[in-house]
Amino acid sequence: MTDINQRLAGKTCIVTGSGGSIGRATALRFAAEGANVVGCDIAVSAAAETVRLVEQAGGSMISVHPLDLTNKDQCERLVAEAVKRFGGVDVLFNNGAMAYFAWIGEMSDDTWYKTINEELNLVFLLTRATWPELVKSRGAIVNTASISAWMGLELLPGLAHSAAKGGVLSLTRHLAMEGRLHGIRANSVSPGTIETNQTRPILEDPVWSKKQLGRAMINRMGQPEEVASVVAFLASSDASYVTGADIRVDGGVLAW
Ligand SMILES: NC(=O)c1ccc[n+]([C@@H]2O[C@H](COP(=O)([O-])OP(=O)(O)OC[C@H]3O[C@@H](n4cnc5c(N)ncnc54)[C@H](O)[C@@H]3O)[C@@H](O)[C@H]2O)c1
Repeated sequence: MTDINQRLAGKTCIVTGSGGSIGRATALRFAAEGANVVGCDIAVSAAAETVRLVEQAGGSMISVHPLDLTNKDQCERLVAEAVKRFGGVDVLFNNGAMAYFAWIGEMSDDTWYKTINEELNLVFLLTRATWPELVKSRGAIVNTASISAWMGLELLPGLAHSAAKGGVLSLTRHLAMEGRLHGIRANSVSPGTIETNQTRPILEDPVWSKKQLGRAMINRMGQPEEVASVVAFLASSDASYVTGADIRVDGGVLAW
């Protein structure tokens, strides 16, 4: 019988952007469920702090930092570290990303390309690097999309961000289709407004905050742990018949 508190026991799980809000919450959640966590982040001290918190909680985690996921060689190095330390990879959580915002009239070429590179290309690069290990383990992929993949947010100049996250969403469906031949499942989560390092400054603006939070049926910001719990479900065998799906973790924004 599956121990529902230890669904990831003995599984090796890569978490990207493990120094960030959702990445850290997920590293802690995966470790609490028995996983060997392999973190990475471009931000050194934040990544190291996540390792400290996981170890303090009694979990197992290594981390490669600084690591830039837009660099193919560094993605390959991350997978090699996971294999060297834990013998393979069972779960890939593509979470780390950086968006740049501008309305179309002010959108520079650089802002557009940077956002596509740092939100979409990095998902492709690490997934390709991890694929042979996921084939061996009949593993699971969870990608972080966004409600921006599904809708335009009135106050957010998110043209490039929406395009990148729409790419993540449809890439996930395609990965599910290719992965079926190898027992690999691929799903995504679409967070709404989650209280994180990237959103906290914007939400301090009262107009923005009222308008944005007013859209949620559950009338508050989500917490990173509320995304992490859904990611852990998708990563685990509790979701063994779920692939090609997107779960919206948005307090109901997209449902009315
Ligand atoms: N916070 C929200 O409301 C919200 C909503 C929808 C989607 N998301 C998505 O959730 C994910 C996590 O974001 P978060 O809110 O926790 O933000 P965050 O800034 O706290 O975490 C993101 C982490 O990714 C790292 N990172 C960025 N680019 C990297 C790169 N090239 N190489 C290595 N590491 C890199 C950052 O250093 C950071 O630690 C992102 O994909 C984001 O788009 C967040």
